[in-house]
Amino acid sequence: MSGFRFAIISALSAAASATNLFVSSYSGDVTTLALSDSNGTYSLNATSSDPNCGPSPAWLTLDASRGTLYCLNEGLTSPNGSMSTFTINRNGSLKHVQNSTTISGPVSGVIYGDPAGDRSIALAHYSGSSLSTYSLTSGGRFEEDESFTFELSQPGPVADRQDAPHPHEAILDPTGQYILVPDLGADLIRVYAIDQKTNAISEKTPLEAPAGSGPRHAKFHNPYKTADEGSTTYLYLATELASTIISYSVSYLPNAGGLEFTQVQEVNALGQLSHARINAPAGIALSPDNRFLLLSNRNSSIFTLPNPDSSNNTAVPSDSITTFSLSESGELGFVQAWPTHGLFPRHFSLNTAGNLVAAANQNSGNVVVLRRDVATGLIGDVVAEAEIEGQVTSVIFGEIGAVNGA
Ligand SMILES: *[C@@H]1O[C@H](CO)[C@@H](O)[C@H](O)[C@H]1NC(C)=O
Ligand SMILES: *[C@@H]1O[C@H](CO)[C@@H](O)[C@H](O)[C@H]1NC(C)=O
Ligand SMILES: *[C@@H]1O[C@H](CO)[C@@H](O)[C@H](O)[C@H]1NC(C)=O
Ligand SMILES: *[C@@H]1O[C@H](CO)[C@@H](O)[C@H](O)[C@H]1NC(C)=O
Ligand SMILES: *[C@@H]1O[C@H](CO)[C@@H](O)[C@H](O)[C@H]1NC(C)=O
Ligand SMILES: *[C@@H]1O[C@H](CO)[C@@H](O)[C@H](O)[C@H]1NC(C)=O
Ligand SMILES: *[C@@H]1O[C@H](CO)[C@@H](O)[C@H](O)[C@H]1NC(C)=O
Repeated sequence: MSGFRFAIISALSAAASATNLFVSSYSGDVTTLALSDSNGTYSLNATSSDPNCGPSPAWLTLDASRGTLYCLNEGLTSPNGSMSTFTINRNGSLKHVQNSTTISGPVSGVIYGDPAGDRSIALAHYSGSSLSTYSLTSGGRFEEDESFTFELSQPGPVADRQDAPHPHEAILDPTGQYILVPDLGADLIRVYAIDQKTNAISEKTPLEAPAGSGPRHAKFHNPYKTADEGSTTYLYLATELASTIISYSVSYLPNAGGLEFTQVQEVNALGQLSHARINAPAGIALSPDNRFLLLSNRNSSIFTLPNPDSSNNTAVPSDSITTFSLSESGELGFVQAWPTHGLFPRHFSLNTAGNLVAAANQNSGNVVVLRRDVATGLIGDVVAEAEIEGQVTSVIFGEIGAVNGA
């Protein structure tokens, strides 16, 4: 009798543990994948796809608590890009709300403003050398607000792809007072103060990154999880062209006057300073427990794996995610490099529990979900995998509290 009851309870809990992942791809679609866990055995299946962010979906920002998804179309084949919004149906499919033309090449977006009041989204435009903002109205609708277009100051480009400013990401500081924009073309992290009443933004003194380093993505870290002006705050910058992570301590100037940065450390993205090699870091994320930093690495294929087709002896190359421990002093400790079972992991995300990592391998067209040991931070086996049409540009977990948008 009790055994029978146990079997029913575990069947129910297995049925309940399905999570949606949202995937953008240059095929033009945003695909919903259902990740189901049946007693530790996972499956990953496409349940719907939506073409309304097409033709070049590059980035997804999830507002999980309001069930709204923002998708950026980079517009690789047109002079402009666009932003599309969706609400999320109970079965994980998307309901399209709005598609509006933007400045060329939006590749990252961050929501800011009063969580209970007026909110906005800031977009970084890679090919359009711009930052733009939109006010969010209700139900996923939005209206154009401000835009800022940048030019290179002399003496001009240092490295390839530094012909013009190329803002690659927009992030919010932990206090919600500033937007930071790593600019790959200009070797700057641009800093904007947010007017707390209107959400208008104004430029402050930027952080200068090393010449030719190519800032791409960055993350803030408060070691004590406090987020006020007086608390210890670090910024970790992933440089795409130099393949490093640079940590800075951050201090807040009075009266929302800007931020000051002091470099703490610079480490090789692959964790092997002595072995310089071609590598292009992409996504950066903190684990949900605030103890580890993860970075995805492209174009270096530091792993060679057995062919998944056991009848084929040809080994296959794989790119990687590196994990570093975080410390109270802002220094990183190398923990692990681990294969993503694919090429060019442009983006990855962690689930709310931190025990799964999903990697979007752009050039091999697959999404791979890997087990992660929360205690040690070590990534492990593949638990599920899905082939995606076209080049995959991002993957996010549809859960409140997940670490999305690396
Ligand atoms: C669940 O998995 C465990 C460990 O693999 C196994 O011992 C158990 O029999 C499985 N239970 C069911 C209902 O499949
Ligand atoms: C889901 O995908 C797995 C492979 O990952 C496959 O074995 C299974 O049949 C699929 N389930 C459905 C409902 O399509
Ligand atoms: C959304 O708008 C952009 C820019 O105007 C356009 O290129 C794109 O085709 C639109 N997407 C769809 C699916 O209509
Ligand atoms: C999911 O829900 C939407 C809205 O209720 C519905 O239109 C759609 O057919 C459903 N899809 C599936 C696969 O059940
Ligand atoms: C389309 O792109 C052009 C050139 O970058 C820009 O001037 C214009 O403002 C863009 N349109 C919109 C609606 O953002
Ligand atoms: C990848 O490496 C090759 C050299 O092997 C280089 O030409 C190319 O620009 C690199 N791509 C990226 C995205 O870093
Ligand atoms: C064996 O695997 C390699 C690498 O994935 C692939 O290029 C090749 O086509 C495969 N050969 C066969 C016969 O499937």
